[in-house]
Amino acid sequence: MTEVVLLERPAEGVVLLRINRPEARNALNIEVRKLLAKHLAEVSEDTTTRAVVVTGNDKAFAAGADIKEMADAGTIEMHQRGAHKLWRTIAGCSKPVIAAVNGYALGGGCEIAMTCDIIVAGESARFGQPEVKIGIIPGGGGTQRLTRAIGKYKAMKYVLTGDLFTAKEAFEMGLVSEVVPDPEVEGRAIDLARQLAALPPLALQLAKEAVLAGMEAPLSTALALETKSIQILFSSQDQKEGMRAFIEKRKPKFIGH
Ligand code: CAA
Repeated sequence: MTEVVLLERPAEGVVLLRINRPEARNALNIEVRKLLAKHLAEVSEDTTTRAVVVTGNDKAFAAGADIKEMADAGTIEMHQRGAHKLWRTIAGCSKPVIAAVNGYALGGGCEIAMTCDIIVAGESARFGQPEVKIGIIPGGGGTQRLTRAIGKYKAMKYVLTGDLFTAKEAFEMGLVSEVVPDPEVEGRAIDLARQLAALPPLALQLAKEAVLAGMEAPLSTALALETKSIQILFSSQDQKEGMRAFIEKRKPKFIGH
């Protein structure tokens, strides 16, 4: 049986996780969530992986939670499924995670993309939180991450109507990092991942932590966290190497310590 999440290594230091349920527009069933969480937890610990790309196929990044799988579920069952663990694994991944989005990124699919650190979208990609149309609300952070990304009034419009929006609209609202022609999405995401893979991993990890933790804290606390983080990096060999290489006008060789 084909795995519902494929792990590929398209470049040195880069892992690509491909959601692989084309027959269901990559709907996120329990198996997809578990495999994504497992792979992300493993790459988080793996020192040879420096950056991660999460993608789907040309029709769908992911069309949301698997409606057929949850239609008859009750409260306790939904609780026991522990779907929320996936979101923590993405945000908690010590490596930068890039979403490469073609086609639909709806409901839980939009939420996965928003939990990633960088979003590269194809021109025809469609985003949305259409959950109200099936009698629920976003459950993977959509009410919060969308609001923080694009502001209350735009987020409220999309969360309440369930209307979809285009990649161009998403870019203009600040939800995606880059929009590129559809066939270039995966290549561009891998290029970005390769670029990140060549940088000192500790600096990237602390930068990610400072941005994410800082978003949840008062400015003074967030700035204190940033200060401590930059100070910590002065104990790393990569900081010494990076600065020495600059002064000696040569290319740095980062080792991840
Ligand atoms: N769950 C289960 N199956 C899904 C699915 C989903 N979220 N999305 C698509 N599929 C299935 C369809 O049922 C269909 O299966 P069959 O061939 O067996 O009938 C197959 O994928 C192809 O789908 P369509 O024929 O509908 O394809 P389309 O190209 O015409 O439309 C679409 C694509 C706009 C994505 C449409 O399928 C759609 O609206 N899907 C549901 C989107 C949605 O409501 N997502 C939110 C889910 S709830 C959620 O995500 C909660 C949360 O926050 C965690």
